[in-house]
Amino acid sequence: MKKLNIGLIGCGGRMGGHIKALLEMEDVAVAAVADPIEERRLAAAEKFGCTRIYPGFAELLDHESKATLDALLIAIEPTAHGDCELRAVEMGIPFLVEKPMTVDMELAEQINARIQETGLITAVGFQDRYLNVMEMIKEELPKHPAGGLVYGSWVGGIPGVWWWQKKSTCGGQLVEQNIHLLDGLRWLFGEPLSVYATCSRGMVTPGVDASEEYDTDDHSTAVFRFENNVTATLVSGCYVQKTAPLSVRPNCGLMISLRDTVLDYRLRNNLIIKTADEVRDIAALKDQTYKLDRAFLDAVRSGDPSGIRSPYSDAIKSLRLGFAANRSMETGQVIDLK
Ligand SMILES: NC(=O)c1ccc[n+]([C@@H]2O[C@H](COP(=O)([O-])OP(=O)(O)OC[C@H]3O[C@@H](n4cnc5c(N)ncnc54)[C@H](O)[C@@H]3O)[C@@H](O)[C@H]2O)c1
Repeated sequence: MKKLNIGLIGCGGRMGGHIKALLEMEDVAVAAVADPIEERRLAAAEKFGCTRIYPGFAELLDHESKATLDALLIAIEPTAHGDCELRAVEMGIPFLVEKPMTVDMELAEQINARIQETGLITAVGFQDRYLNVMEMIKEELPKHPAGGLVYGSWVGGIPGVWWWQKKSTCGGQLVEQNIHLLDGLRWLFGEPLSVYATCSRGMVTPGVDASEEYDTDDHSTAVFRFENNVTATLVSGCYVQKTAPLSVRPNCGLMISLRDTVLDYRLRNNLIIKTADEVRDIAALKDQTYKLDRAFLDAVRSGDPSGIRSPYSDAIKSLRLGFAANRSMETGQVIDLK
């Protein structure tokens, strides 16, 4: 079978997960890599014996083409996207881009419009949609049409990357990190009717607990109303001390309380299903990045995008929702989404 030639854009933390997945695939060759940090681009290239190595996506796209690359994987910081995806669309090269696809909503809309016009195959890194335990929740919910309550949380410390420290460069924790659970809510319950959100600062001291420029929310709470009597509260927090032991770190995930069943999804770890008759504890398979990448690459090979669970056109709805929650935090208003 002819190998698919892939270009890697951004060789930081997240690309490490994609590289691990690609190394397990026999039908894939990494033909080009780009990152401004030399050490990172060289390390990524070495793993695949790749010799086309560029200092950034601009140079990669200047020298490569649809004839030399079948697909791109893009994992760069949210403010670094520039014209990367727009150029990929014009060149006709399918891409998988990490969430949040940018913090510039206008740019995301522009990219999405061109994708719709050209029909390019795209995927976004909402890896949780490929988790066995999330699939089980999705299968279970239609059996409970009466609705219920959802308590979701992602509470931890502050990730080390520089761009996470400022709300303007990461979008805030809900847009940057908890967008995974926000997207999960959309995947499980459909499009919300409204969102109301609050946020708080003052727990984390810039220059002491975080970098000098830290100015993002320490925690936020967003309430999403869905059809069919479902209301979800999603809390995001990044104030837990770096040195805090596991015993003082709260559980993260989604607790879905139905009339006769509890679905307790522990973030990327396990799902506990409780009914009157039994308690089942199902382990997450943790192969979701492999499945995400495989779904995208299979679509590139076959031309059939139906296996991609989060194309750009769907992922942008999660991005819009995250920014709608941010607007609610700023204005104190409920944002009507219908
Ligand atoms: N899907 C997930 O579960 C998941 C997990 C972690 C991070 N992410 C997302 O992946 C993205 C990257 O996060 P990260 O943790 O890898 O960040 P990172 O800072 O570790 O890596 C980003 C890399 O992009 C490079 N880069 C910057 N400008 C570039 C350019 N012009 N051309 C090529 N490379 C460039 C940087 O030098 C850096 O090495 C973010 O959007 C983040 O939210 C997704």
